[in-house]
Amino acid sequence: MPGFEVFGEEERREIEEVLATGVLFRYEFGPQRNGIYKVRQFEERFAAYCGAAHAQAVTSGTAALKVALAALGVGPGDEVITQGFTFVATWEAIFDAGAEPVFTEIDETLNMDPADLEKKITPRTRAIIPVHMMGAPARIEEIRAIAERHGIPVIEDTAQAAGASLHGKKLGTFGACGTFSFDPVKTMTTGEGGMVVTDSEELARNMSEYHDHGHDHVPNPGGRGGEGRRFIGFNYRMMELQGAIGLAQLAKLDSVILAGQRRNKAVMKEIVSALPGVTFRTVLDEAGDNAGFLAFFLPDANAAARVAERLAGEGAPAIRFGENTWHFYPKWEHLHAGASLARSGWPFVRGEGKRRVKYDPAALPRSAAVMDRLLVYPVPVRMDDEFTGRLRQAVAKAAQG
Ligand SMILES: Cc1ncc(COP(=O)(O)O)c(C=O)c1O
Repeated sequence: MPGFEVFGEEERREIEEVLATGVLFRYEFGPQRNGIYKVRQFEERFAAYCGAAHAQAVTSGTAALKVALAALGVGPGDEVITQGFTFVATWEAIFDAGAEPVFTEIDETLNMDPADLEKKITPRTRAIIPVHMMGAPARIEEIRAIAERHGIPVIEDTAQAAGASLHGKKLGTFGACGTFSFDPVKTMTTGEGGMVVTDSEELARNMSEYHDHGHDHVPNPGGRGGEGRRFIGFNYRMMELQGAIGLAQLAKLDSVILAGQRRNKAVMKEIVSALPGVTFRTVLDEAGDNAGFLAFFLPDANAAARVAERLAGEGAPAIRFGENTWHFYPKWEHLHAGASLARSGWPFVRGEGKRRVKYDPAALPRSAAVMDRLLVYPVPVRMDDEFTGRLRQAVAKAAQG
């Protein structure tokens, strides 16, 4: 699953180049930096890899979502539609932009159900964020068609799906923007970091300025300034060490990381197929799957619970995303309590003390039914015989009932 498994000499060499200049900041310091601009180079190579016109590096995948929302002009009074099964960061970014998350069901792609999306659109919908969960595509072509019909921009949360594609086109390039995370457990990692890709010159310019306090980076290439700032911004800048690591990881993405995951996922799938009644997640384009996860269903919730217990008991525990408290919104206790550090209660409470948003934990019965039957294995890039032997034995035991 993660790029940290293949962290090595290449990353070290890239980092050394930055340390040799002593310049850790992505802008300015022209005379000292010896022509080295790692973040800028990472942006250019990532954009080219994705087939996008522009890429904006930022501090995290959550920041990438926030910067994309800001670039699109999303703010208070707006609704943003995403899915109920995602990492909480997707919702956090929407709240942080001042908007209200509205959520949809998922289907057996484990991603946004386009039919439910259509029902959730209102005159206040200002953006739609489908998430490509666990390395495989949402029904992004249908989602984009619906969004276009309503004139609403799409931001693809591609945090978990770097390198994946649908019908030959990279995920993250179907919508107005695609966001990526390079946190420590992602397909490729820079420790912390994120990226937004877009084909729009205007959005790229908004992002470049917003992520650096409103500074304009065009008149003074490699530097900042040449102001009049057009709007108030924030600081989501990536640093040179992260850019350096990103370059090394990107160079390994296809040839080492995805190749390893695809090989290993095929082996794990063959082993897991021995479970009675098992079926697999709908993957819309097997060739484009980044193969970071193996997601499978048991016939019902009881069978899933029983098999999960057996697998864990035999030393090969699978993730139950319906149970963990990170990825499915009914389990987000702070959301349901309306808990916030802000004394006013924002973003759950409006200035006058009225609850602004409240989420019914039972509002997505079809998603809940999918989650109840779902088990997931992260797929390693490097897998040894001890791992496969243990998995095979655990599956054989679980298959016995
Ligand atoms: C779907 C999704 N979106 C956004 C993020 C946020 O990324 P980061 O941890 O880099 O802020 C994550 C991270 O796990 C994620 O899985």
